[in-house]
Amino acid sequence: MSVIDEIKARIDIVDLVGETVKLRRTGKNYIGFCPFHPNTRTPSFVVFPETGTWRCFGQCNEGGDIFRFVMKKENWDFSEALRYLAERAGVTLRPIEAAPPEEEQALERLRDLLENAVTFYQHHLTQTPEGRLALDYLHQRGLRDETILQFGLGYAPNRWDAALNYFLGKGYGVEDLLQVGLVVQREDGQGVYDRFRHRIMFPIRDPQGRMAGFGARVLNPEDVPKFINTPQTPLFDKGKLLYALDQARKAIRAQDQAVIVEGYLDVIALHQAGFTNVVSPMGTALTEDQLRLLKRYTRHIVLALDADAAGQKATLRGLEVARQAMDHADELVFDARGLLHHEARLQADLRVTTLPPGQDPDEVVLSNPQAWVDLVAHAKPIVIHVMETLAAERDLNDPKAKREIAAQVLPLIEDVPDAVEREDYRQRLARLLRVDERALLRATPTRFAPSRPRGTTPAAARIVSPLINTQPPLHDMETHCLRLLLRHPENLYLLNRILQQAGLSRFSPQDFEQAPHQTLAQALLQALDQDDMEVLPYLQQHTGEALQEFLQALLAPLPHGEPTPEQQLEDIARTLIKMRLARVNAALQQYRFFHENLSEEDAQVGNEIAPLIPQLIQLRALLEKALAQPLQPD
Ligand code: UTP
Ligand code: MN
Repeated sequence: MSVIDEIKARIDIVDLVGETVKLRRTGKNYIGFCPFHPNTRTPSFVVFPETGTWRCFGQCNEGGDIFRFVMKKENWDFSEALRYLAERAGVTLRPIEAAPPEEEQALERLRDLLENAVTFYQHHLTQTPEGRLALDYLHQRGLRDETILQFGLGYAPNRWDAALNYFLGKGYGVEDLLQVGLVVQREDGQGVYDRFRHRIMFPIRDPQGRMAGFGARVLNPEDVPKFINTPQTPLFDKGKLLYALDQARKAIRAQDQAVIVEGYLDVIALHQAGFTNVVSPMGTALTEDQLRLLKRYTRHIVLALDADAAGQKATLRGLEVARQAMDHADELVFDARGLLHHEARLQADLRVTTLPPGQDPDEVVLSNPQAWVDLVAHAKPIVIHVMETLAAERDLNDPKAKREIAAQVLPLIEDVPDAVEREDYRQRLARLLRVDERALLRATPTRFAPSRPRGTTPAAARIVSPLINTQPPLHDMETHCLRLLLRHPENLYLLNRILQQAGLSRFSPQDFEQAPHQTLAQALLQALDQDDMEVLPYLQQHTGEALQEFLQALLAPLPHGEPTPEQQLEDIARTLIKMRLARVNAALQQYRFFHENLSEEDAQVGNEIAPLIPQLIQLRALLEKALAQPLQPD
């Protein structure tokens, strides 16, 4: 995902715009007074959460994405908006040229060091008498030699300086060893010692399979802690990696499903048994970054939780305490509401399956592989999981228990974005509690009450952000249009002729919603407006660093070969008109909805909007007519 998409995925356009404009929900969208032209009577400003865009249908007739909004509001250029929003979203802007060569080289060197460390620990596991104990233990846990090799498992000798001396001897410096976390500074600052001693070593790699760090498990059950990991280093950020994703990603994509378990050994045992779509976090709660990582391969994610976690954490800590807090927390304990929130934001399908009491996934699969298949197949949507867990713990003949369960589950149901799904959950809850569904509904907190304070918008109302696989078609049309125009910029004159013949307005940056597209379109117009340079070199010089990568991507060869300039012209014109049509339709739908749902105090506003509708209908007719004929200049 590009940095721009990542920022968009993380920032809720309703939140962002809502800081400046008082927004009111109407149907799927939000409406308000345009902040960019003086007017307090016509709410001509609409935010479309589904596409992450906004538009003023009044005087401005302008619109765009979050970048465009910030650019216009602050009078910034694209790079300034990018810097601001990246910071707000907590996204690190990598320099466009990829990492500077020296920095990339330094990281490469650290990866090499870790790769050598894998070999070092492997050697101690398989070739030394002291490693024998560890190897026996792994065999006893049911792992075969080829599995041990496949996961690069190793053994860290029971000494303070084994790795230290070995790597100093190979020409690495203490500084390197500290940087990758293989050694630890002494408390008195005098020297360093091996971090991992007398432990089983699990190499942890990034999704591309490059070394990042280690997890290390005790051999001696008395030693604490049971696991230690590489600390935060330039290569290792445990909240942003998933164990074994490098080995699992192919299967995850092929099966369109990922399963998350809790332990390293569970992952390995499952892979050994042929269940290769399994990964685990590294002893921390699941983060949104990790879910986003998985989302590159699948939307379908199953969490396999042990029996205690599934029951206690979900109900007690989760629902009671974190209900409010989770809205903004970015760590994800197994908290039903937090998970739902992520599920909605990420448009993922998250399910929970519970392990038999006292058993870990490795034990399940080693004793009976079919049992694992069944467990995963019976994973349940989060809401149902919580409902059933709560119900199992309480006496359902007790009216007080019923009321309490309803009070815990109803807010979760409210957070589910899909109306059909929501209704299904309500019916199930009613059946489970053996109460009348209407009685339940009366207990439902009102949705979208107008006076809801900011920051407590229900998650369901904030399902936003175009994500990787859900890029709206409009977005694709925009890139398509630019891609073609960049190939034959001179087509722009002919394009304008075609548009004029059809009674339509000329090409403008406002034909695009996405700020990077608008900025490029603007630059293209400027490029054609000067005579000193060729168009492409001009663009490359004038688009600024932030858009270089994007420009290059647009210029990359087309997968199906290059069409002729004439074909391209027809294609651009058609695409552009379709883009306009899509927007007019969205606006019409929006205004009709608005009109049909007017309250009395809004009647005046309704009168103001009324004339806009016939104008839009007229424009729509023109656009449709244009599309019905061949689009060539006379
Ligand atoms: P468990 O204690 O359930 O261990 O921790 P396990 O993976 O089942 O290990 P075995 O089966 O006893 O060998 C689950 C996961 O939580 C993290 C590790 O990632 C572990 O795999 N963890 C656990 C820690 O990071 N630190 C700890 O002290 C304990
Ligand atoms: Mn275990």
